[in-house]
Amino acid sequence: MVVFTVTRKETTPFDGQKPGTSGLRKKVCSRSIFFSFLLCRSGSGGCYRTELRLACFYMHFATSLDRGDLVLMAIVTVFKQPHYLHNFVQSTFNALPADKVKGATIVVSGDGRYFSKDAVQIIAKMAAANGVRRVWIGKDSLLSTPAVSAVIRERVGADGSKATGAFILTASHNPGGPHEDFGIKYNMENGGPAPEAITDKIYANTTTIKEYFIAEDLPDIDISVTSVSSFSGPEGPFDVDVFDSTTDYVKLMKSIFDFQSIQKLLVSPKFTFCYDALHGVAGIYAKRIFIDELGANESSLLNCTPKEDFGGGHPDPNLTYAKELVERMGLGKSSSKDEPPEFGAAADGDADRNMVLGKRFFVTPSDSVAIIAANAVDAIPYFTSGLKGVARSMPTSAALDVVAQNLKLRFFEVPTGWKFFGNLMDAGMCSICGEESFGTGSDHIREKDGIWAVLAWLSILAFKNKDNLDGKKLITVEDIVRGHWATYGRHYYTRYDYENVDAGGAKALMAHLVNLQASLPNLNKVIKEIRSDVSDAAQADEFEYKDPVDGSISKHQGIRFLFADGSRLVYRLSGTGSVGATIRVYIEQYENDSTKTGRDSQEALSPLVEVAIKLSKMEEFTGRSAPTVIT
Ligand code: G6P
Ligand code: ZN
Repeated sequence: MVVFTVTRKETTPFDGQKPGTSGLRKKVCSRSIFFSFLLCRSGSGGCYRTELRLACFYMHFATSLDRGDLVLMAIVTVFKQPHYLHNFVQSTFNALPADKVKGATIVVSGDGRYFSKDAVQIIAKMAAANGVRRVWIGKDSLLSTPAVSAVIRERVGADGSKATGAFILTASHNPGGPHEDFGIKYNMENGGPAPEAITDKIYANTTTIKEYFIAEDLPDIDISVTSVSSFSGPEGPFDVDVFDSTTDYVKLMKSIFDFQSIQKLLVSPKFTFCYDALHGVAGIYAKRIFIDELGANESSLLNCTPKEDFGGGHPDPNLTYAKELVERMGLGKSSSKDEPPEFGAAADGDADRNMVLGKRFFVTPSDSVAIIAANAVDAIPYFTSGLKGVARSMPTSAALDVVAQNLKLRFFEVPTGWKFFGNLMDAGMCSICGEESFGTGSDHIREKDGIWAVLAWLSILAFKNKDNLDGKKLITVEDIVRGHWATYGRHYYTRYDYENVDAGGAKALMAHLVNLQASLPNLNKVIKEIRSDVSDAAQADEFEYKDPVDGSISKHQGIRFLFADGSRLVYRLSGTGSVGATIRVYIEQYENDSTKTGRDSQEALSPLVEVAIKLSKMEEFTGRSAPTVIT
């Protein structure tokens, strides 16, 4: 047996290792340092990130000496710089309770983006040195974020071991590659992201770290084959188990859904299907589930080979980035004349997000969760005994609220961020939840789940069509959505994003809105001056959430204007944008007259959009006359 030793390495803190909502995300090699430098030279204050400032300063210095070689050297790596990842990993070990490190079993894997393979080896060596007993690695270091959650909760090792946590290597829907993003986050024993108490501790540790421990002589693990390698260190045995990345997840999906009925639908000549993994990790699950298990045709899969750089694309499943799928579904500008498939879906890099499409038809994520909740008990065996409750994030449309009212379900409105759902689920209060940002999921794990959402939709389609597959006309995705609107009314919905705006301007705009929400009569006066044909605001507030489980209070979660007719305007600052500030404006109008639910969404919303923009004085505060992205 190979024996390893532990080396103590001295180190110093890096600025800016504060994990965001979804862990630490940075450039692998920072081209942004260079851009920051260029901006800085032009006097526009481009050194927006603390960790870039030093490099930027150095570049100024090198330029002043006319040393191009030194300038180039300054375009240093972030994640690849010596000790950078090590510091974060050691800070995480130091933040966890001792028994979750010493003798524990820890999962390490991710979406396969550039630098993952190096990171897995580093983390294995550091785990060994820190007294971890076992490291579980998905083959080729691949595990989707939902699969990691499933592995923590469900997998039992050959010796009866269970994992107590995981390092997930992903920057989600951000591009990957040598000049793009890498990310790392820690998930806990319940399969969900580390709570703030832990991430705050990790961050505090990164600011004071002086040393880390690593088993430098532990040989690199061959992650391309499944096998268990055993080693021996100063604290006893240490195993690395490289296991099949799909088995546990597929088993879980089979325990939730009726694969037989989905298979009948998928193999029926009447039904056509297309799935785009955008070269993210979802591809390996799509192949196993849709092709091997459910019998779909191989030609149904687009971009299902995971690539370190996602094929140069932006692995975000929306109408802008999932271009090939959008064209194939007949929704693109240059869609071919071929008949589009009946159903299409896409996932992001780590496969927790999803987009669902029908033939020439887009299903908004807000409608998607409402429709899944409305049909779950009938169509999905896991929910046969009823739903414990449903939840949505605050900016997600109120489509789910109407379903909850009609079906008399417990309902929760939580701040943006999946962790808020996790608490409700751990307490047995919520079965299904979703977000406008293409996240849908259930209490089978503690992450959103892109493939689960697709299987949920296929289950609904299979259920609705169980007697239609031979002769009758197929009930389509569009039929299901329109039928839902006819029963529950429709929430016309759109989101305007103003990306990379000046942080000061964004703050001032939010302060202006905080002011406006304070007086309803004044607010209504301003609204009527903009458009007299919109309904009165009945309530306005800054959203605050008291967690019903742990009583914690989250303040300043966005500003809500709720109108008497059920329409809403919501404004919030993004928690994930990396450059400047991103303002998100969510515009929603409720229509429960079934003769009026078939309008074009942007047209139906145009009066409220006008109110939203003018009410916030968007142009005045940000200088922007148009949003960067409309979804
Ligand atoms: C991540 C989280 C989601 C959240 C989203 C919000 O993707 O996993 O739960 O909805 O960020 O992003 P934003 O940029 O709007 O803060
Ligand atoms: Zn993701």
